[in-house]
Amino acid sequence: MTHAIPLLSSHGCAMPQIGFGTSQLGDCGDLVATALKAGYRHIDTAWKYGSEKGVGTGIRVSGVPRGEIFLVTKVSHEYLRADAFAKSVDESLSNLQVDYVDLLHVHWPSPEKVPLAETMTALARAKRDGLARHIGVANFNIALLEEAQHHCPEPLVTLQGEYHPYLDQRKVLDYCQRKGLIFTAYCPLARGRLFNDPVLNDIAKTRGKTVAQIVLRWLVQQGGIAPIPRSSNPARIAENLQVFDFELSAAEMQRIHALARPDGRIANPEGRAPAWD
Ligand SMILES: NC(=O)c1ccc[n+]([C@@H]2O[C@H](COP(=O)([O-])OP(=O)(O)OC[C@H]3O[C@@H](n4cnc5c(N)ncnc54)[C@H](OP(=O)(O)O)[C@@H]3O)[C@@H](O)[C@H]2O)c1
Repeated sequence: MTHAIPLLSSHGCAMPQIGFGTSQLGDCGDLVATALKAGYRHIDTAWKYGSEKGVGTGIRVSGVPRGEIFLVTKVSHEYLRADAFAKSVDESLSNLQVDYVDLLHVHWPSPEKVPLAETMTALARAKRDGLARHIGVANFNIALLEEAQHHCPEPLVTLQGEYHPYLDQRKVLDYCQRKGLIFTAYCPLARGRLFNDPVLNDIAKTRGKTVAQIVLRWLVQQGGIAPIPRSSNPARIAENLQVFDFELSAAEMQRIHALARPDGRIANPEGRAPAWD
């Protein structure tokens, strides 16, 4: 039986708690249609991934009404000047063949090259022009997030950042919780690095679930976190959604928290990544 996907809310935004990630999936129309037919209602893409056209195709062939889908894209760090930003948003909408996205992100901060005030004004303008229903940022540290909120005339609803059992994100998560921001967890399966983990396999065996389901359950059970796993395999796409029919015990949650390690971060591009919290 498929359980309903809970919604997370922030400033009037209602985000389905699990999304389908599309980086590295390229021409992903069939996979996106598969995900939508399996029950996903939140699709994560970015101009940078080259998957926007595939996402648009997938939405159309799925037959799922546009209004039922929470569609997310991002403006890349090369396009943070006001003019370039607006052009990038237009290009994304054209790639996706839609009039608006539900959530628009700044993909990576670049405050040394473009003043944050300019970028955040451009982001808010996209919302005011009706091109994005909600706005957020990805890969910002707390200091940049504070500055971004200060400069942004519209509320930010989410911070998208890396999170999985090998990465301690307590500081950032506490901050988001205090400010009422949803935390969208990317690389929730650590890009496959955790599938041989003995603790995760032990819990999975006890529970009769897969390691992916244990990890995704651990993420959603913390509250306020929306993981966006990617898979190119239809069975795994469906499997990753089946995490709302069981609960981990406090001891199991704690065992998974204890797996965090100093070298756990995966997405850390030199020259682009901020000083992480
Ligand atoms: N904002 C940013 O800067 C940023 C950065 C990175 C990612 N993201 C977003 O977050 C999404 C997810 O992150 P990610 O794609 O880097 O990695 P991920 O979702 O952590 O891991 C994807 C990998 O896990 C495998 N996998 C998925 N489900 C599985 C299952 N049930 N059992 C076994 N293996 C499974 C996939 O292989 P198969 O395909 O073979 O199933 C793939 O190799 C991205 O697609 C993107 O939308 C955003």
